[in-house]
Amino acid sequence: MWTFILVTLVILTRADGEEDSFLYDVFPPGFQWGLGSGSYQVEGGWRDDGKGLNIFDNVFHQIPSPAVDGTNGDIACDSYHKYAEDVSLLKYIGNIVFDNWPRSSRYHVFEAGVYRFSLSWSRILPTGRIDYINPAGIEYYNNLINFLIANGIEPIVTIHHWDLPLPLDGIGGWANDELIHHFTNFAHLVFHTFGDRVKKWVTFNEPNIICMLGFVFKVDGRPIGLNEVIKCFRTLILSHARVYHLYDHVFRPWQGGKVGTNLAAYWFEGKDPNNPEDAKAAENALQIMWGLIASPLVFGYFNRETRQMMERLAKRGLISPQKEFTLAESAEIIGTWDFLGVNHYSTYLTELRKSTSKPGNLTLDQIFLLLLDVNLSVKPEWVSTSTPDFKVVPSGFRRILNWIKWRYGNPELCVLENGYSGRPEQGLEDYNRVAFHRAYINEMLKAVKLDGVNVSVYTVWSLLDQFEMELGYTVNFGVVAVNFTDLDRTRTPKLSATCLKQIFKDNGFPR
Ligand code: NOJ
Repeated sequence: MWTFILVTLVILTRADGEEDSFLYDVFPPGFQWGLGSGSYQVEGGWRDDGKGLNIFDNVFHQIPSPAVDGTNGDIACDSYHKYAEDVSLLKYIGNIVFDNWPRSSRYHVFEAGVYRFSLSWSRILPTGRIDYINPAGIEYYNNLINFLIANGIEPIVTIHHWDLPLPLDGIGGWANDELIHHFTNFAHLVFHTFGDRVKKWVTFNEPNIICMLGFVFKVDGRPIGLNEVIKCFRTLILSHARVYHLYDHVFRPWQGGKVGTNLAAYWFEGKDPNNPEDAKAAENALQIMWGLIASPLVFGYFNRETRQMMERLAKRGLISPQKEFTLAESAEIIGTWDFLGVNHYSTYLTELRKSTSKPGNLTLDQIFLLLLDVNLSVKPEWVSTSTPDFKVVPSGFRRILNWIKWRYGNPELCVLENGYSGRPEQGLEDYNRVAFHRAYINEMLKAVKLDGVNVSVYTVWSLLDQFEMELGYTVNFGVVAVNFTDLDRTRTPKLSATCLKQIFKDNGFPR
């Protein structure tokens, strides 16, 4: 008996901060559930109906292709042709049923119903510029949006999820501030065209990753310049702000929606819990990872950690000295969000770095570490996933949500990506993914109900097994399997789809 009590106590009070007991409770009414995808990762149809080329069409056709299995997204899930089936799957997982269907289109939504997808810029504007609008691109997204709404599912639209039109990469990509103008034109067009039905817009998917991991720069093997990386941050921040104001002044008065952006938000904690230097390194990494973009948007300026990072890099001769935002720029960027999007996948341990040597050609990982100024590691006991860098640490999710709440004034947060990386051979009975989502959603529930974090949306990454940038089709995040050897790209829900269906329906975990 005593042994039992002792073991239970030890489990409940684990000093390493692992998650405590499971919370049986539900999310506040109106909490929104759904699933997500990225245009290049699911659409296929890479040359169909007048679509222009984007950076991924280019890079994944290179030999050797940077995807480990040598594949590309030419066909991917073929969602360009099979979007109606995707919507049916969403409707099924979202528990949406119709009253008197098909006589009336009144639908009954339990606690579900959002689909987060992104627009392929070059499908709509083949050159990336507003010189020619491709009617087939407009038609495709009109059909998808209409079909979602007819089926009771609200669209959340990411305007840009990394698939930059190739001609814009040709002029330097996001390191060229001419892109502010092109992105604003693109956003204007899509607000004008789809904004009567789309009420939540995400300007950029993970702008912090676009720059930090140089997705824009590595596409044609060009060496990555740190100056370009820093310039990229400025261009994205200013583009976002310009588009926010455009929406605010021109479209919001009659469309009444919301605009935000979503950031990659890992959790960092000190490697040695008793070493204040490690804790400092974690705070620094968080303030750069999340704050490099969030601080300008929320407070109007780069935070102290970002400024110190830039000074450090300039002192070492790695970048040219950087200017603060001008007063006019600050005034333009402050407060340009209605919600902040959170993409959460993993947790890392931090230690301070003490390297001062001047590195030669930088790999993407080195750039990442140089910006964050930390050494990263993981605990050996953390469960692995099929993406080497992603470990299963549910408690990190509650912590990053709380950290954002306390450092950034309890903003409305939409969790737009959270998912488990598996392998095709794991099949339809994806118990690990089921365990992952139950545990992570439960930590989010604690953040909302016990800690008062203001989360309003959770979209699972991803609806389908889809193309994953560097890993091709060797890993998957989908709750619906896609048979990539079948030309028809047959879709089959996995066990995780059934489990999520229940969580969505229950709005959490009722006792
Ligand atoms: C974040 C990206 O937005 C998404 O495109 C990718 O599939 C996931 N990370 C998983 O790596």
